[in-house]
Amino acid sequence: MIAIAPSILAADFSRLGELVRQVESAGADRIHVDVMDGHFVPNLSMGAVVVKGLRPVTRLPLEVHLMVEDPGRFLDGFVAAGADTFIVHLEVLDDPRPLLQHIRHGLGKKAGLAFNPDLPIDRVEPHLRDIDMALCMTVFPGFGGQTYIPESTERIRQLRGMIASHQPACEIEVDGGIDHRTISLAAGAGANVFVAGSAVFGAPEGPAAAVKSLHHLAEAASS
Ligand code: DX5
Ligand code: ZN
Repeated sequence: MIAIAPSILAADFSRLGELVRQVESAGADRIHVDVMDGHFVPNLSMGAVVVKGLRPVTRLPLEVHLMVEDPGRFLDGFVAAGADTFIVHLEVLDDPRPLLQHIRHGLGKKAGLAFNPDLPIDRVEPHLRDIDMALCMTVFPGFGGQTYIPESTERIRQLRGMIASHQPACEIEVDGGIDHRTISLAAGAGANVFVAGSAVFGAPEGPAAAVKSLHHLAEAASS
C-alpha cells in the first residue's frame, strides 16, 4: 500500500492546522513530524506541543521522527500529546530492541527504525522483526529542501530484498528530497511510504495537488 506522509517541517507554521487539513483532504496518509535536538542533527525543530496542537485537527496518524540523541526520554510526552508512531535512529542505540519493544508493547504504538545514508543496510537486518517500518534516509537528516542522494535507490532495493525474506509486513519509508522525480525512483526500488516536505508545502500547484500527484506517481512506479 502506497502512503504519502507530508513533513510539516516545510509547512508555514502560521497556517499549520489549515495546511494539515488540506493535505488530509487531498489523500495524505499520515503526517510526519520532524523532531530535532540540535545534537544528533545540527538543527532544532519542534516538540510534543506541536503534536498536541495538531491532534484535534486531523484523524491521520501522527508519526514522530526522533532525530535526537536520547529518543527514550521524549516518548511519554509525545504519547500524551497524541502521537501514533515513533521512528528512532539506529545510530544512537547500541541495541535498539529494548526501546523498540517498549514502543510497541509498552506504549502500544508503531515503531520505526531510521538509518542515515552512510549506515550499511545489513546493520538493519537483525531488527526487521522488531519494527513496523524501516526508514531509509535519502538525505543526511537535519534540514528540509535537500537533494535526494542517488545511491539511496540501490539501498532501498537491497532493503526490500531483506524485508521480503525476513519480515514481509515491514514498510519501507524514504525521507529527504522526495519529489515528483525521485519518488518514482524510490517506489520502483521498493519503498512504499514517502515523506515529502518541500515537494508538498513548497509546491507551486499547492499542497493538495502535490499530494495527489505524488500518490499517482508512486502508484504508477510501484505497480
Ligand atoms: C530531514 C527530515 C525530513 C525533511 C524532508 O532531516 O527528516 O523529513 O523534513 O523534507 P524534504 O522533503 O523537503 O526533503
Ligand atoms: Zn523526517
